[in-house]
Amino acid sequence: MKLGKSKNKSKAAKLIIDNKTYNLPIYNSTEGESVIDISKLHSQANIFTYDPGFTSTASCESKITFIDGEKGILRYRGYDIEDLANKSDFIEVVNLLIYGDLPNKKQLKKYKNLISRHTLLHEQIINFFQGFRRDAHPMAMMVGVMGALSSFYQDSLDINDAHQRQEATRRIVAKSATIGAMSYKYSIGQSFVSPKNSLSFSENFLHMCFSNSAENYKISPLLAKAMDTIFILHADHEQNASTSTVRLAGSSGANPFACIAAGVSSLWGPAHGGANQAALEMLEEIGSSKNIHKFIKKAKNKNDPFKLMGFGHRVYKNYDPRAKILKSICQKVLKHVGIKNDPILKLAMDLESIALKDKYFIEKKLYPNVDFYSGIILRAIGFPPEMFTVIFAIARTAGWTAQWTEMTEDPIQKIGRPRQLYTGKKSLIYGKNRSKKNTR
Ligand code: SDX
Repeated sequence: MKLGKSKNKSKAAKLIIDNKTYNLPIYNSTEGESVIDISKLHSQANIFTYDPGFTSTASCESKITFIDGEKGILRYRGYDIEDLANKSDFIEVVNLLIYGDLPNKKQLKKYKNLISRHTLLHEQIINFFQGFRRDAHPMAMMVGVMGALSSFYQDSLDINDAHQRQEATRRIVAKSATIGAMSYKYSIGQSFVSPKNSLSFSENFLHMCFSNSAENYKISPLLAKAMDTIFILHADHEQNASTSTVRLAGSSGANPFACIAAGVSSLWGPAHGGANQAALEMLEEIGSSKNIHKFIKKAKNKNDPFKLMGFGHRVYKNYDPRAKILKSICQKVLKHVGIKNDPILKLAMDLESIALKDKYFIEKKLYPNVDFYSGIILRAIGFPPEMFTVIFAIARTAGWTAQWTEMTEDPIQKIGRPRQLYTGKKSLIYGKNRSKKNTR
């Protein structure tokens, strides 16, 4: 059923302010928490709700992804993540997220063909890379080049044209891998490797990253499957920070490439997608299991900004189902690449086991999240830590474009414009009350 249609209303919530009662409709979800509709509250009661960080706020209605944080459940369009990780492939999941149900064989073949034919970039885009320093973070290149795509693909900018919207989503997903691979090659001083349409999306990404002008990278089916599973696990995650950024940018009517560039920027933060790089760097800093207690003490110290990277989650108050799957892939990949008893994996598992027995982590329900084990696998495949968030961004173009499409097609969507609790100065007369401090 389309969004915005009659919602499954149940009883109303009563809000009493200064002895006046306001009835606020409650809408039931198909799974998970119901919502109280406060959209008319300001016009009725001249008051705002207040929820920094949106810990108790539903920003939209969506049919794409469901998370049960208590039970550790993640579903894309109703399918459990475990099933999709084991049985599907990334491009089928992209199609599922954007179109709402699994494609049949013919539709999937056609869609894979369409994606393959969008992996090439306009030759002039190569010039953008020349402008970066070689030691620029690859995410800086992802942000810059993704936003610049709007100047090259002007026949897919009209957000009111269904075909142009779909064309833009295909270009963003397909080209994100090429841009990501190019940012890696540029950072290591190697020439760019063109995509090969005969390869799958994940094989192609490994080829573009690890082949070079002297020899082709020998694609191992096990590593290609691990890469594809990593893309599936990172594809979407409800209204997380970067997806909310894409939706807010999209709500102003900005073109799809600009919205996704905004999402890439938000994902880069260490509290979000940047945590996979930070988690591996943290493990390397801990160095050995005998130092674990020192770092756990730091993580528990309110006055110390240090947090255990790859631990904790706004929604999961149980083990992140994606972390479980990644942990199970670790050993297979390490064995395949010939790393026996990887000290970093052992350290990660020791850290997990000590933390999960610690009262602080138990009380605050802090478990390993998607970023805790992913870096160990990506490093074993051959990527440097700077590429981990780029890989997260490539995968998340699936969710970002699906959520952007849903928002753009939502009949009740309007520009997002939150209000505030103002606690600044009341009106002053110009010239008086100048600052006495010369601290600036
Ligand atoms: C992702 O939203 C998504 O869905 C994101 C994501 C996706 O797929 O899009 O799942 C991907 O971003 C995963 C999260 C990756 N980030 C990290 O691993 C960074 C480390 N984690 C923390 O920064 C934190 O757990 C967050 C940001 C993930 C969640 O923060 P919240 O929901 O705002 O929780 P909080 O900071 O209010 O934490 C609650 C308490 C606090 O202590 P008190 O103020 O109650 O005393 O738990 C503490 C926090 O200090 N805490 C931690 C901790 N995480 C939370 N203490 C130590 N180490 C940690 N990792």
